[in-house]
Amino acid sequence: MLNKLFKFQPNRKVSDVVVNTDGLDPDSIPRHIAIIMDGNGRWAKEKGHLRTYGHKVGAETLKTIVKASNNLGIEVITAYAFSTENWKRPIKEVNFIMELIKRYLTAEIQEFKEFNVQIRFMGSREDLPDFMNETMDHAIKETKDNTGIILNLAINYGGQAEILHAAKSIAQQVADGTLKIEDIDVPVFENNLYSKGLPSPDLLIRTGGDLRVSNFLLWQIAYSEIWTTPVFWPDFTPDMLVEAIKAFKNRDRRYGGLSTDTA
Ligand code: IPE
Ligand code: IPE
Ligand code: MG
Repeated sequence: MLNKLFKFQPNRKVSDVVVNTDGLDPDSIPRHIAIIMDGNGRWAKEKGHLRTYGHKVGAETLKTIVKASNNLGIEVITAYAFSTENWKRPIKEVNFIMELIKRYLTAEIQEFKEFNVQIRFMGSREDLPDFMNETMDHAIKETKDNTGIILNLAINYGGQAEILHAAKSIAQQVADGTLKIEDIDVPVFENNLYSKGLPSPDLLIRTGGDLRVSNFLLWQIAYSEIWTTPVFWPDFTPDMLVEAIKAFKNRDRRYGGLSTDTA
C-alpha cells in the first residue's frame, strides 16, 4: 500500500513524495507533529562541508517531510527553524540561515501553493530584519486560503519568550479593564500564545541525538509524546516519520489518568 491518502480531499494534491505506509493504522495519525530539526551542522562537518551546507540540505528535508505529512493527513507541522538562543552563533551562520529562509520561502512558494500548504509562523517578529518580515508576510498572504497541511515555522522562537509575551499581553488586558483576573484560565492563556487556534502537538520529534527540548513549545508539549533519533536532520526520511508515528500509536496517553483497561 503506497502513497495512500488517509483523509483524501479532492483539492489535496498527491505530491511526488512516496510514503511507504505498510502497517500504518490510518486512525493513529497525529493531528499535529512538532519537530526539532537538529544536527545540520554535525551532518555537514561529518561529510567535510561547512555547517551552512547542512542547513541548506536540511531545508530540502523539511520540504520532503511536509509533503509526506500532507499525504498522511497530518494537519499541522511545527518546525523549529531558528531559536531565540541561536543568535549566539557566529554572525556568518546567522546571516546564512536568515538568507536561506528568505530564499526558501520565495523560491518554494509556488510549490507550497501547488501542494495546498498553508504557511504560518511563530516567534518574535520584532527582532527580525525587515526583509524577513516582508518575506514572511508574503508567504502568509500567498498561502492563507490553502486548506491542506499547516506548516508552522518557528523563527526567532523561544518557549520562555512566548510565555512572557502571553503574560504581558494578559496583564495589559487586565490593566485596560477588558479582562478580569479571575477569568484567566488555560483557554484564555492559550489564546495569547503564538500557537493560538492550533491543537497541541501530539508528537514531538527531535533528530540529532540530544534528549532535551531546547526552549521549544514549553507550554504546548505538556502532554506530547516524545520520539527521538540519533539521525541528523538532513538524513531524516518519510520512512522515519512513519516509524515515529507507529511508535506513537503504541503509546498509552493517560494524561494523568489511568489506562482504559486498568480503570
Ligand atoms: C539545527 O541544526 C538547525 C538550527 C539550529 C538552525 P544545528 O545547526 O543545531 O546543527 P548541530 O546540532 O550543531 O549539528
Ligand atoms: C534547537 O537546536 C533549535 C533548532 C533546531 C532551531 P539547537 O542546536 O539550537 O539546540 P541546543 O543548543 O543543542 O540545545
Ligand atoms: Mg543543534
